[in-house]
Amino acid sequence: MMMEPERIPVHVSLIMDGNGRWAQQRGKERTFGHFEGVESVREISDECLKLGIRYVSFFAFSEENWNRPRKEVDTLMELFMSNMHSQFGNFMEKGVRYVVIGNRSRLSDKFNKTIDSLMEATAANDKMTMILFVSYSGKWDILQAARRMAAAGADDLEPYLATAGIPDPDLIIRTSGEKRISNYMLWQAAYSEFVFTDTLWPDFRKDSFHAALEEYASRDRRFGKVKK
Ligand code: IPE
Ligand code: IPE
Ligand code: MG
Repeated sequence: MMMEPERIPVHVSLIMDGNGRWAQQRGKERTFGHFEGVESVREISDECLKLGIRYVSFFAFSEENWNRPRKEVDTLMELFMSNMHSQFGNFMEKGVRYVVIGNRSRLSDKFNKTIDSLMEATAANDKMTMILFVSYSGKWDILQAARRMAAAGADDLEPYLATAGIPDPDLIIRTSGEKRISNYMLWQAAYSEFVFTDTLWPDFRKDSFHAALEEYASRDRRFGKVKK
């Protein structure tokens, strides 16, 4: 796929939705869809590397998702952890910096250790930054930032957001036909372009991604200004 470099987003974010429905359509348990969804994450992040996208982020688990059945939550946490272990070599080889963002106080010690070691080991990788949002919500982020900003007597919120240092998403893609933000990057999405697709996350692969990037490339971003 050829695209003018200025039409390639710096930061693409994916709200991965529809795993449960994908599995249910096949008469399988919801978790089956989460396993298949991991393949989409791999394919999309590889594609981002190829296209020279600097930041790719994935909304993997929201603060509200803690209210799902315990078994599903446990399976998801195990899945995140085992993938971090199995992908480590791949990240090092490809120069991917890995970052986890969210309310880490709700994660297990074991999971937090895995995250810390992966983030430390990949910190100097500079081809691309891959971000996993886990136990994240936009309201949580704004609240924790506001508290820390007030404690510091400062008046600029941005440096206190959990995403500090990461450019705001240029493009947010949501799969599965839902057209809502579901408490994702509320602050950071102020000027993001949105692409909604009916494709369920486990079916969202290279071709669907290219279609979304093409739609993004056709958008006219004005940021409140008058077009020249
Ligand atoms: C997205 O798929 C994955 C997570 C939110 C963890 P869902 O599990 O929400 O799948 P649907 O929306 O129920 O089909
Ligand atoms: C959004 O999906 C959160 C993630 C993709 C992690 P949900 O399935 O939780 O969203 P709602 O409940 O349909 O809004
Ligand atoms: Mg869902």
